[in-house]
Amino acid sequence: MGLDLGTSAIKCILINDEGAVIDSYSVSYPLSQPEPGWAEQDPEDWWQATVASIRGLLEQSQVPVADIAGIGFSGQMHGSVFLDEAQQVIRPALLWCDQRTAEQCAYIEATVGQAELGRLTGNRALTGFTAPKLLWLRQHEPEHYARVRHLLLPKDYVRLRLTGAFGMDMADASGTLLLDVASRSWSSAVCERLDIPLAWLPPLYESGDIAGHLLPEAAALTGLAAGTKVVVGGGDQACGAVGVGVVRSGIASVALGTSGVVFVHDDTYQVDEAYRLHSFCHGVPGKWHRMGVMLAAGGSFQWWRNHFAQEEMARAEREGKDVYEILTADAETAPLGSEGLLFLPYLSGERTPHPDPKARGAFIGLNLRHGKAHLTRALLEGITFGLRDSLELIRASGIEVSELRVNGGGAKSPFWRQMIADIFGIPVVTVNSTDGPAYGAAIMAASGVLNRDITELCDAWIQVTSRTEPNPANQAKYEVYYELFRGLYGTLQGTFH
Ligand code: XUL
Repeated sequence: MGLDLGTSAIKCILINDEGAVIDSYSVSYPLSQPEPGWAEQDPEDWWQATVASIRGLLEQSQVPVADIAGIGFSGQMHGSVFLDEAQQVIRPALLWCDQRTAEQCAYIEATVGQAELGRLTGNRALTGFTAPKLLWLRQHEPEHYARVRHLLLPKDYVRLRLTGAFGMDMADASGTLLLDVASRSWSSAVCERLDIPLAWLPPLYESGDIAGHLLPEAAALTGLAAGTKVVVGGGDQACGAVGVGVVRSGIASVALGTSGVVFVHDDTYQVDEAYRLHSFCHGVPGKWHRMGVMLAAGGSFQWWRNHFAQEEMARAEREGKDVYEILTADAETAPLGSEGLLFLPYLSGERTPHPDPKARGAFIGLNLRHGKAHLTRALLEGITFGLRDSLELIRASGIEVSELRVNGGGAKSPFWRQMIADIFGIPVVTVNSTDGPAYGAAIMAASGVLNRDITELCDAWIQVTSRTEPNPANQAKYEVYYELFRGLYGTLQGTFH
């Protein structure tokens, strides 16, 4: 069984011993934004949704419980679960897309030193990461901070409730800013300088390790058998990459979920100049990866749908269609480049390549001929240009990317896949597994339970199903717009407040 604790829902899948997906089940939960730029969730909602999704999947699939050999986890990264002595949640978790910690990031870089922080952790202090969230708590909610005894990431909290065992994989731990990514161990140096007790951090594991066994009370709630093996799993980006087979150098992936991520595998620990890409441990034992993260990729499209696509939503409902398919088909009627209209996708601030919580979205270049199709197309083009920025950082560090594997909701659209191939100038492929991080989590479960290599399982189970080549004429046209796009952040930065 693979579970992916996402930002909007948990997805639970079952695979058989040949890697084929048997069934899946999702349960959603709310996200609260108590202040602009804040994003929180209640860990209890995750727990309830986990129980409901496992129960729902068991009932729907009718798979005998005794056949479920193990469970693996994927989860949204960076979120801070603060637990007290009695393992009770102290306050709602601050999520990966929460932007409140700019001041704490500046403090961390000033206290540790930017270069030293990079040397110790492989990364810069970014608002989404976990350590600044802990410092925010110390500064703004001292009564809560005084009770903290454990710091966990979202899926690790759910796993604790299932097994009673504390644990975290190195892939997800990389996004806390407390891990020495090169040596795959907690950085006592960073903890010391930030005055964060090492004792609050859980034991570290590789993603395929067994973290514990299902408690009888968790078995009674979920319907699973007590004692079922529970494998550690990984952060959702590492799991998503494993889920599409990005487990070797030269292959990269683009994940189009709420966030957008360009991800490359590294056989050895590597950092880019000025730590502009995230350098993290991979879910493949003893391997690493680098990635660029756009905060609102699918999130921009979702915003567009929620506020400006009432008609399309009604039509989707009437015709039993997917509203994104309707919007994408409409976008396709506008010409490449949207007749000069450009879109900046920084609706939640940005991480890569502009680590700026204050960055904002914009449509630039509107004229009277522009209609909705142009705006929708410009939105998709802007997201893809923003992702190309991450690819350029990867290229600049000397990595030759020969193939891009797409995953996430956006991967379903052939139009968007062609756009990515054209804007990136690289063939875009899809694979037989379309469950992304949940599938990666299931592979990790299989690795732990069957004692097989994650890479070997990916080779055996993941096949390429389609390949979209770049169209040279489109590529040349997009190059012109990409150059314009690249200049926009610098030009508009002074207007963001
Ligand atoms: C990765 C990141 C996001 C979340 C989304 O660094 O912040 O991709 O993991 O779930």
